[in-house]
Amino acid sequence: MAAGKGTRMKSKLPKVLHLLAGRALVQHVVDTAAELQARQVTVITGHGAPEVEAALSTVTRATGQLDINFVRQEPQLGTGHAIQQAVPVLRDDGLVVVLSGDVPLTQADTLTQLISACAGDKLALLTIDFANPTGYGRIVRKGDAVQAIVEQKDASAAQLKITEVYSGIMAVPAKQLKSWLARLDNKNAQGEYYLTDIVKFAVADGFPVVAHKISDAAQVAGVNSPVQLAELERTYQKRVALQLMEQGVRLADPSRLDVRGTLTCAQDVAIDVNCVFEGLVSLGEGVHIGPNCVIKNASIAAGAVIHPFTHIEGGEPGSKNAIEVGPGALIGPFARLRPGAKLGAEVHIGNFVEVKNSTLAKGAKANHLAYLGDATVGERVNYGAGSITANYDGANKHRTVIEADVHIGSNCVLIAPVTIGAGGTVGGGSTLSKDAPPLALTVARARQVSIPNWKRPAKK
Ligand code: UD1
Ligand code: MG
Repeated sequence: MAAGKGTRMKSKLPKVLHLLAGRALVQHVVDTAAELQARQVTVITGHGAPEVEAALSTVTRATGQLDINFVRQEPQLGTGHAIQQAVPVLRDDGLVVVLSGDVPLTQADTLTQLISACAGDKLALLTIDFANPTGYGRIVRKGDAVQAIVEQKDASAAQLKITEVYSGIMAVPAKQLKSWLARLDNKNAQGEYYLTDIVKFAVADGFPVVAHKISDAAQVAGVNSPVQLAELERTYQKRVALQLMEQGVRLADPSRLDVRGTLTCAQDVAIDVNCVFEGLVSLGEGVHIGPNCVIKNASIAAGAVIHPFTHIEGGEPGSKNAIEVGPGALIGPFARLRPGAKLGAEVHIGNFVEVKNSTLAKGAKANHLAYLGDATVGERVNYGAGSITANYDGANKHRTVIEADVHIGSNCVLIAPVTIGAGGTVGGGSTLSKDAPPLALTVARARQVSIPNWKRPAKK
């Protein structure tokens, strides 16, 4: 269910599209359903339906592994009405797991247990005890047996004291669900069609109802406001940090780490404070990440050190735009690696150096204030401070090739397309618009002249 408005977010963006750990809330829910190997995922949209559908289908197209369909609920007349809209697409032989698009942290194994409790022939409710159950539907029992869910606004004084609440998540055989949905009405305090009313129909039909109670509140927590969103973000990040530390990763401070995607780490990885990882990032054995680094879609090989304040931003994971940093490379501080940077072993990229769509072979160094764009750089090249590749002629991009063992002085402009032959040296301050031969010293700047006894103009 993802049709609700989310007024308290006070945002133009539909609530379920707000991001948690870099993924839309509803995307978390869809991904969890995918983990369960759901045969089909149906998303009920309403408020902001076109945006929600577009956001999800983009992701689905990219992963291409899930049969996802959309059903619109307009207007929104309650949770029962929402599920009624999905009736035509639910197959009779299926088991339906009802999830909310704004409850992102439910774990797949919890749902697997709920599905086991349902076992195809029971109505299984995910429940939890809350010291303060205000606002939630209460689980009414007679003896041990679940009798009904009563909504806050419809509950008697005695029922309001019940602390076991309905989480909003259930597993139910499709065939029975459909028959009960057909019997719903809106004669209640809110004038809504309550999905929760199906419990009393099941009981009346003699159909078994079971409650699967959990204790981890985060798994059923919904997002209604920016405060709750931030709280769940921290909960999520804490989970990730714990998992990483259990694998042996050393985090300077687990509360100052943000993983917005998937971070995989080999042995003896250390990560300092305030680092953000996005997309797909893998860190090889012994990699050290300094404080305040932002790293997206990159594979960083064993022994590499990323010094503080480095920004690494690869393109699509697995594509030619993803970033590779070779073993033993030293990057930063204040370095910027952009899409398609491929750095070999022991490459050094220093402060205020930007690398885009360029390959640097083993041992190449660009240590200060430089730009390498669309360049192929050979082994052991030394690329001087302030030098740039002029890769863009205003219409097209061109490549610069710097062969092995070249030494580029400071403040050079290499106007692409241009090739510097192996072992060549380019004098500082040169602007090259033609190829430079191997092993030569190439200088392309005005000769230095000195005019003796030069008199500066004086004021008249
Ligand atoms: C619902 C349950 C309540 C439970 C609580 C848990 C009902 C009647 N009550 O209450 O027992 O304790 O969740 O959080 O089901 N939605 C639609 N269309 C609608 C109405 C809602 O898609 O017409 C979606 C919302 O966007 C949300 C979810 O359904 O994702 C739950 O709706 P919400 O209004 O939060 O339900 P509650 O009244 O809180
Ligand atoms: Mg609610």
